[in-house]
Amino acid sequence: FDAVDVIRTKRDKGELSDEQIDWVIDAYTRGAVADEQMSSLAMAILLNGMNRREIARWTAAMIASGERMDFARLSRPTADKHSTGGVGDKITLPLAPLVAACGVAVPQLSGRGLGHTGGTLDKLESIPGWRAALSNDELMHQLEDVGAVICAAGDGLAPADKKLYALRDVTGTVEAIPLIASSIMSKKIAEGTGALVLDVKVGTGAFMKDLADARELAETMVALGTDAGVKTVALLTDMSTPLGLTAGNALEVRESVEVLAGGGPADVVELTVALAAEMLAAAGVTDVDPAEKLRDGTAMDAWRRMISAQGGDPDADLPVAPEKHVVKAQSTGVLSGLDALAVGVAAWRLGAGRARKEDPVSAVAGVEMHAKPGDQVSEGQALLTLHADDTRRFDRALESLADAIQISSAHTLTPLVIDRITA
Ligand code: URA
Repeated sequence: FDAVDVIRTKRDKGELSDEQIDWVIDAYTRGAVADEQMSSLAMAILLNGMNRREIARWTAAMIASGERMDFARLSRPTADKHSTGGVGDKITLPLAPLVAACGVAVPQLSGRGLGHTGGTLDKLESIPGWRAALSNDELMHQLEDVGAVICAAGDGLAPADKKLYALRDVTGTVEAIPLIASSIMSKKIAEGTGALVLDVKVGTGAFMKDLADARELAETMVALGTDAGVKTVALLTDMSTPLGLTAGNALEVRESVEVLAGGGPADVVELTVALAAEMLAAAGVTDVDPAEKLRDGTAMDAWRRMISAQGGDPDADLPVAPEKHVVKAQSTGVLSGLDALAVGVAAWRLGAGRARKEDPVSAVAGVEMHAKPGDQVSEGQALLTLHADDTRRFDRALESLADAIQISSAHTLTPLVIDRITA
């Protein structure tokens, strides 16, 4: 095979053969296909698409580039959740221990934040002592012992995706549904989970800004998982406004602990319980009510054991920002909009996120919200508190918030869970 022939095939709107796909992924992983060739192919795929056969083969080839894990030896069924990413999306933190408390093991291999969406590992690293890196043996042991692990995906899992994702990130080729679906699903199938629930976000703060694209992504991923023998369902959920009342690392850990203590914002509780119910059903457990496990403290017990098992101190004080800035309501009325993307960009500029993979993140930076869309607010009332290490961060964060807040006479609430996609 020749890389230029493969590129030409897709450039001219042709279908890639199974053999072409297997070869190009393998050759790229080995370094025999150059970055500029793969980036050209990724752009041709973004522009001309791939059919379901091509996407399935592409996914299989990325899985075959690395190791596959196997949880069959565990005494419990396994279920994992993947979110396509949003603002204030801390759901993994309460969800993993909650599902473990209901008898299903959760191997949650997570990533770091890039751009305006936060990363689960960055959030947990604000807990003193907690470490993200586990060996496969440690992961297995903790899954058996505690039932929940949130850790960094090892380098052995879908290495082709690691390389390709970094390339897409710098070549304007992230937003291709076939490439997103195969990227996410290659990692989840290689991870070896028995069941998978996908939280596909729709709205300004998400990859997919409109419902039709989000639905196509969800359907593609559900088909890939199902064909690979993973029980897969997807929820389409709203990301037009942030989840909960916080966006930032330590801020989101604090809010997650409130949820585990039986409190916390209603939307975070609703989505945590809805996703837990889906994970339990997909894993074949139908006789446990996850909401009850939040109320009776067993999910909190699992959280404490999960954090301690990875060196963290669940009783340690979380770090607090030295600098704060309050944003007040400009008028009286109903808060009818609080834009997810604007809040995400503000949190990022305050220091919660990174611009490049190597950048450090601030544990304390972020945005705390004092009202949600639908709430009545009065002129002069505090709507947001910005948190940062340094007051110089506030100006640029405020710029991104300039049009983020809408106050009007009425507001129609949109449902949080928009639809459910099954095979
Ligand atoms: N998340 C991934 O893991 N891959 C993508 O391509 C997009 C989001």
